[in-house]
Amino acid sequence: MSKDPGRVPGYVPGPTGLNRHLVHADPPDHTRLRTLVNTAFVPRRIAQLEPLITDTANRLLDRIEHHVHVDVIADFAAPLTFRMICAILGVPDGLDTPATRATLMATIAPAADLDPSRQEHDLHALLDTLVADKRSANESSTVDLLGALVRASDENGAMSEEELRSTAYLLLLVGHDTTMNLVGNGTLALLHCPAQAARLTGPDTGPGLVASAVEELLRYDSPVRDATFRCAAEPIALHGQQIEEGDIVSLLIGSANRDEAHFPGADRLDLGRTPNDHLAFGYGPHFCIGAALARLEGSTALPLLLRRLGPVQLAKPADELPWRPTRVMRGLAALPVVRN
Ligand code: HEM
Repeated sequence: MSKDPGRVPGYVPGPTGLNRHLVHADPPDHTRLRTLVNTAFVPRRIAQLEPLITDTANRLLDRIEHHVHVDVIADFAAPLTFRMICAILGVPDGLDTPATRATLMATIAPAADLDPSRQEHDLHALLDTLVADKRSANESSTVDLLGALVRASDENGAMSEEELRSTAYLLLLVGHDTTMNLVGNGTLALLHCPAQAARLTGPDTGPGLVASAVEELLRYDSPVRDATFRCAAEPIALHGQQIEEGDIVSLLIGSANRDEAHFPGADRLDLGRTPNDHLAFGYGPHFCIGAALARLEGSTALPLLLRRLGPVQLAKPADELPWRPTRVMRGLAALPVVRN
């Protein structure tokens, strides 16, 4: 398919001028853009971030060590995951803030009290600042991903200006909104299943169990609930349903991951589940580029959070928890807990 997503009926386009990124591209553009971004996310480079993730997580947990009331999202999951993607992109100190995050998040769940054109203006102003910062920096200080993309754009035309800004926007947004949901949804699932949570904090918990726990939490309450819209390139019959060329198809990841025909006891959380070939990171050419980072953040942050929070319970009934009103993502706006 090579339709312009902005013209696909029913497609909800992102902010004006920021749609030229890899999620919306087909080869050869997709291959070119993905190759430019991928170098920063290969597992070998991501593994080097482990000390930074541990250190950042511990500092955040230090700040709430004596708090009786904790919001797992605002106090931990949001700042941790946003700082990580900011570190990879090279967002300057002072800009990896809740205000910057709010500007990005407003593009998928607009703040009711703010004028939409004001929100879009703020987002473009943020991208102007970030790109200008890399352009004014000297070569040696631009080893980060955004610096590399700016050079790719300026020096050999491997990326247009619109692609550069669209890619920066995409990475800043999905580079944390997803992992934040993994930590939030995962913590909530574990609060509902204390016996499973105990498996993650016990003295014999090894890296094998932690890794399989993260896969199970990704399956059980998938941080990305729906894939982006697809447009059928040719007619196909699927489970008795005829899909015609050009039809728009939405893939429900969260539903596939609870398919009883594929996952026995699909509605049961089992941190040791094996095999566990879930679709939480998608499938095919658009498979999540940040999967290694997400797995490392999940396996580092979740056990640390559970251990250092100690025994806690939800501060309000589960059916009153605020879920953010977005189509693609599934994540909590707040996860308030009280220390026992
Ligand atoms: C638990 C965390 C994450 C989950 C569940 C997740 C899930 C997904 C899914 C389902 C897709 C495919 C979407 C589709 O085909 O329509 C995807 C693509 C993508 N993800 Fe993630 N993601 C996570 C973390 C991250 C992180 C940390 C980054 C870092 C930047 C990232 C960057 C991307 C990008 C750039 C794509 C588009 C790839 C392409 O179009 O070729 N993701 N992700």
